Amino acid sequence: MAILVTGGAGYIGSHTCVELINAGKDIVVIDNYYNSKPEALSRVERITGKKVKFYECDIRDREGLDKVFSENDIEVVIHFAGLKAVGESCKIPLAYYDNNVAGTVTLCQAMADHGCKKLIFSSSATVYGGNNIAPYGEDMPTGAVTNPYGRTKYVIEEILKDLYASDNEWSIALLRYFNPIGAHESGLIGEDPNGIPNNLVPYVAQVAVGKLERVGVFGNDYDTPDGTGVRDYIHVVDLAIGHVKTVDYVMKGTGIEAINLGTGVGYSVLDVIHAYEKACGKALPYAILPRREGDIATCYANPEKAERLLGFKTQLGIERMCADSWRWQSNNPNGYGE
Ligand code: NAD
Ligand code: WQD
Repeated sequence: MAILVTGGAGYIGSHTCVELINAGKDIVVIDNYYNSKPEALSRVERITGKKVKFYECDIRDREGLDKVFSENDIEVVIHFAGLKAVGESCKIPLAYYDNNVAGTVTLCQAMADHGCKKLIFSSSATVYGGNNIAPYGEDMPTGAVTNPYGRTKYVIEEILKDLYASDNEWSIALLRYFNPIGAHESGLIGEDPNGIPNNLVPYVAQVAVGKLERVGVFGNDYDTPDGTGVRDYIHVVDLAIGHVKTVDYVMKGTGIEAINLGTGVGYSVLDVIHAYEKACGKALPYAILPRREGDIATCYANPEKAERLLGFKTQLGIERMCADSWRWQSNNPNGYGE
């Protein structure tokens, strides 16, 4: 009995592999290394002292998936593989629909044909869109998304609901992540974005390490306590542990549930910059810029359902998130390197 982790060499995937192995689970990883490097999995092996069974395989490659399912007794799939850059998705939407939507359909077809009907899908708080008011609860309407990336997550959620409606043997968790940041406390694995980071904390980290000059704060005229955007940052290790608990949950029965993984607490852009300053021990230059298109003022979770269904509650606060991010960034200024 094993857990298949798609996209397991990526940021959230690699941290989840560590927690799954630590929990004594057997895992098989597939990744096409589009946005990750083999070194990430070598580091997972270093942290855990266990060898990771790996296939270089694209989720759109049906033959490759058949080989993975035939050679392993896969009981649950945790499906991280996907493209995730919001700005890029506006420029090449078809690549996003192909990779994320078509890739998930191919994966589910392979799963069904091999009799594996337990799936944990990486969804996103982005499906709540701009029309709801935080804290976001799972029964709020979804779909008013502002970009093609977000639409892929919404569409996949709808496809998976149709799949369950057609066959009640499936057990599916739609995990809606808020803003994952931080890194494993070893400083060996973390987020390694290509080029200039799009997201706040990777950008702040590169300012702290001297690779970028100053943080651009996208707007200080939002209706928030200090005028800058408020988000629910969740430590990636907490998020990873949430997946371990979800494995136990989907194993228990059948059904489909959307579940938020967030802390329930919001921090502003300036809060994050100041927390990072404490972590790295230096002042971080920043400049106020115009708002970024598509951004909303405030986004944070109602995390009660995760606690009720999974027994999951986050443990690590913003100080730990920044300290662990800084340890990773300062030990690996060029990420996993070439
Ligand atoms: P990531 O890019 O670090 O990891 C994704 C992994 O999937 C990468 O290793 C990539 O090489 C692989 N991959 C991409 N397309 C593939 C394909 N067709 N076949 C096989 N492998 C493929 O991203 P992440 O931050 O770890 O995110 C993991 C998942 O969580 C994604 O689905 C993302 O949309 C979702 N998510 C991420 C965030 C976030 O802020 N990081 C928030 C909400 C949801
Ligand atoms: C956070 C805050 C920005 C960068 C994105 C995706 C979402 C999900 C998580 C995958 C906002 C501000 C940012 C910067 C800034 N990903 N900011 N300067 O936009 O909440 O969520 O990642 O599913 O779908 O949209 O995260 O880190 O980009 O921004 O001021 O250089 O920081 O305006 O208020 P976001 P983020």
